[in-house]
Amino acid sequence: MASLISVIKERNKTTPTWLKILIPILGLGGLGVVAVLAALAAFVVTGWLGQPVPILGFDQTFEQPINFPHTVHAGTGQLVDASGNARLNQDLMPLEALGLDCTFCHRTVTTQANAGVPPVAQCAFCHQAIGPESSVPLTQLRQNAGITGNEPLPINWRRVTRMPDHVRFVHEPHIRFLTANPASIGNATADVNSQQAVKPALTCSTCHGDVAAMAQVEQVEPLKMGQCVDCHRANNAPTDCAACHQ
Ligand code: HEC
Ligand code: HEC
Ligand code: HEC
Ligand code: HEC
Ligand code: HEC
Repeated sequence: MASLISVIKERNKTTPTWLKILIPILGLGGLGVVAVLAALAAFVVTGWLGQPVPILGFDQTFEQPINFPHTVHAGTGQLVDASGNARLNQDLMPLEALGLDCTFCHRTVTTQANAGVPPVAQCAFCHQAIGPESSVPLTQLRQNAGITGNEPLPINWRRVTRMPDHVRFVHEPHIRFLTANPASIGNATADVNSQQAVKPALTCSTCHGDVAAMAQVEQVEPLKMGQCVDCHRANNAPTDCAACHQ
């Protein structure tokens, strides 16, 4: 050990002064470049692949592992294809949207922090039999559900609406408040004031827009701090930092 130190000391003595100054500068310069590149890579990875930075507005949407259409399941009325023709089911009858309630699938939204997305078994309940065999997304779904004989695999849905880690959001009080105060519902999809009892499903549009009309979910509201705090201030909800930040 002692000999190693003496070797280094010896080396340092012989290193020209100009090199002694240049080495740390080069080292730092290199580190600087690495830091910039790493920051850039982190930006690309988190910004584009994870949660795109909303530079093109808030119309954020993601390719999902299975292209799940809310239009078919949560919408109402006759379904049409991209060119406006009536869509037919496997028995060549006009296809009506199912009009399922949002809470049929997002079961914990009225009671918990998370809305919850249904497990593949709940989809399989219908799709074991319903929907053409030729459908690409349904074939994928049946594979995930293990209907085709293979090991079941959960579907890794990608999150569209997501708060940063330092923010706490809970659905339950919001659904409760909006159901009791329909005048505060935003982007309303029905005449909420004429309805005697507003169902929880009618409150979702306030923050998520008209999901029932979306073939692919996209984020329509910015859901930045200003929007949260404005509504909290207007409705005597907590505005202290600790209410939303952990
Ligand atoms: C209450 C029954 C029901 C449930 C539950 C259900 N679906 Fe469907 N789904 C349907 C019907 C009916 C259709 C229209 C079938 C057709 O095109 O003939 C459909 C259509 C689809 C399609 C479009 C197929 C295509 O080729 O265009 C996909 C994808 C799909 N469902 C995925 C899912 C997923 C994922 C779940 C679970 C989160 C789910 N479904 C739950 C009844 C259901
Ligand atoms: C048949 C089940 C089903 C019904 C009914 C349904 N959803 Fe969904 N929902 C899903 C599934 C599966 C996903 C995940 C895939 C996706 O994002 O498209 C999802 C995703 C979402 C998301 C995006 C979550 C995120 O990642 O930010 C929102 C918001 C949403 N649903 C709202 C609604 C609303 C509002 C309704 C009623 C109008 C509704 N859903 C009805 C199954 C359903
Ligand atoms: C006050 C605004 C607001 C309302 C009203 C609201 N949401 Fe959300 N929702 C959010 C926010 C914010 C997130 C992201 C939460 C996070 O990342 O922690 C979210 C996330 C979700 C998600 C994905 C993650 C999860 O929680 O499972 C689903 C699904 C969803 N909401 C469905 C609904 C449905 C269905 C309704 C109506 C019954 C609804 N939301 C009403 C703001 C709202
Ligand atoms: C439509 C108006 C509205 C919007 C938009 C809204 N909130 Fe709220 N929020 C409320 C109201 C009202 C309450 C109190 C409900 C009650 O318990 O009476 C509340 C309660 C909460 C609570 C629970 C506080 C506690 O400790 O009891 C949290 C956390 C919260 N909101 C976070 C958020 C965040 C984060 C956002 C933005 C993504 C947001 N809210 C957007 C109206 C809103
Ligand atoms: C009603 C909920 C709510 C309250 C109350 C609140 N915040 Fe926030 N805050 C948010 C949300 C939501 C975001 C994330 C915005 C985003 O997605 O960029 C955020 C982001 C931030 C950020 C990160 C900067 C940014 O723009 O992302 C800081 C710093 C911050 N808040 C500080 C505070 C302080 C300090 C207080 C108390 C005076 C406070 N917040 C109160 C909801 C809230």
